[in-house]
Amino acid sequence: MTFSCFLPTFADQRPGVSNEVGLPLLASGLSAKGVAMSDQPVRTTNSHPENASAIEAPVPLIDIHEQYLELAEEIREAIGRVCDSGRFVLGPDVEELEASIADYCDAKYALGCGSGSDALILALLALEIGSGDEVILPSYTFFATAGAVWQVGATPVFCDIDPDTYLMDAESVAAKVTSKTKAIIPVHLYGQCVEMEPLWRLASEHHIAIIEDAAQAIGAEYRGRRAGVLGDIACFSFYPTKNLGGFGDGGMITTDDPILAERLRLLRVHGMKPRYYHKIVGINSRLDSIQAAVLNIKMPHLERWTRMRLTNAMRYQSLFFECGLDQILKLPEVAPDRRHVWNQYIVAVPDGKRDALRAHLAKHKIGSEIYYPVPVHKQECFNDLETAQVDLPITDEAALSTIALPIFPELKPVQQWQVVSAIAEFFQVKAPTKPAVPETLKGPNFLKFPTRAISDKKTF
Ligand SMILES: Cc1ncc(COP(=O)(O)O)c(C=O)c1O
Repeated sequence: MTFSCFLPTFADQRPGVSNEVGLPLLASGLSAKGVAMSDQPVRTTNSHPENASAIEAPVPLIDIHEQYLELAEEIREAIGRVCDSGRFVLGPDVEELEASIADYCDAKYALGCGSGSDALILALLALEIGSGDEVILPSYTFFATAGAVWQVGATPVFCDIDPDTYLMDAESVAAKVTSKTKAIIPVHLYGQCVEMEPLWRLASEHHIAIIEDAAQAIGAEYRGRRAGVLGDIACFSFYPTKNLGGFGDGGMITTDDPILAERLRLLRVHGMKPRYYHKIVGINSRLDSIQAAVLNIKMPHLERWTRMRLTNAMRYQSLFFECGLDQILKLPEVAPDRRHVWNQYIVAVPDGKRDALRAHLAKHKIGSEIYYPVPVHKQECFNDLETAQVDLPITDEAALSTIALPIFPELKPVQQWQVVSAIAEFFQVKAPTKPAVPETLKGPNFLKFPTRAISDKKTF
């Protein structure tokens, strides 16, 4: 898997208002075991005056306030309209959002719900998955993916991941299929779609449903088709730190199947139709009108923000290449036929140095996070679960070695230079040069993505 060459323009990088408000994501991580990922020796050049000058203002892991400032007036107006209407649950704002998400993903139906976690529960309920059924999912994911399976009474069965992309590994999935398997949940982690082709084959051979966990991947593509139409049902999250983030919890489910869509519509309102008549047992998971109103304002900007994330990913690539850190760190890989939307920028740190690097970044007031320090199958709540007693070596290694660096759209070139300079200082290599305006990005491995390339025909 390699990066292809793409020379970006920086037209998307509008000069933003400087703001250090961000989520306080600087807590220290767990201790790490040694994980060697490069044969290259760490360079030991000791004195680099550029490194010292790199330490400037804090760089948050994420700054959701900038995006709010950009649209504050429109957002306040939209919220005001909802308040004036007195309609706070579902309603026209939610319908407008559902239509635009369906259009954006090229899906026939989109249904708003309370959160990405609820979207997963609703998807499982709609497929009538419950007690006695098994669902295969990666252990290297946010807990909600497995929690949803547990909540509906089914058994989570954990598979391993690809070491380059950290995404569900199809061979590991195939090895876990039994007569009880009712669904597979590919998680499009960090903003990149799972390799779907082998999963489609498995699903059709064994009559298994596919539920996409696209919580981190709105706008991501696989072979020109968007996350949201790569399985039977897809689940999105509008948690504030997501690429399309609301002002609280919110979620969306997409499907092309009219029967599933109708079941999902019922399930999110306690199975009620008409009022106070319950055909099936559902849950209460409706999207708030205020969330939808905010998201409707943000939606037209999603593609631009996604391109800004992509530009930031390419800039990191250039900076890491310039100072040779690509030989020390394992930089993110984009698999063929993918459009990565960079919800997170993840690097793997060799030789058990991840937590020391994180402490070094924190010392320089640079935000970072560990997604995820404890794989789901090793969580305490699954201590007694038979299917959790499995060996998932690649998952374990990823949990010990990876770290997320700031990648939010409004991140400035100089802030990225600060991040890379601090990492260069940690590994005692020469810092990259401070980005000039206009920039020239260096390094062979850049990515070329279509901004919108959805094929008409779905072939599975
Ligand atoms: C991969 C994944 N799945 C599911 C969820 C759950 O979404 P929510 O927080 O909206 O419930 C998240 C949220 O972080 C996630 O990252």
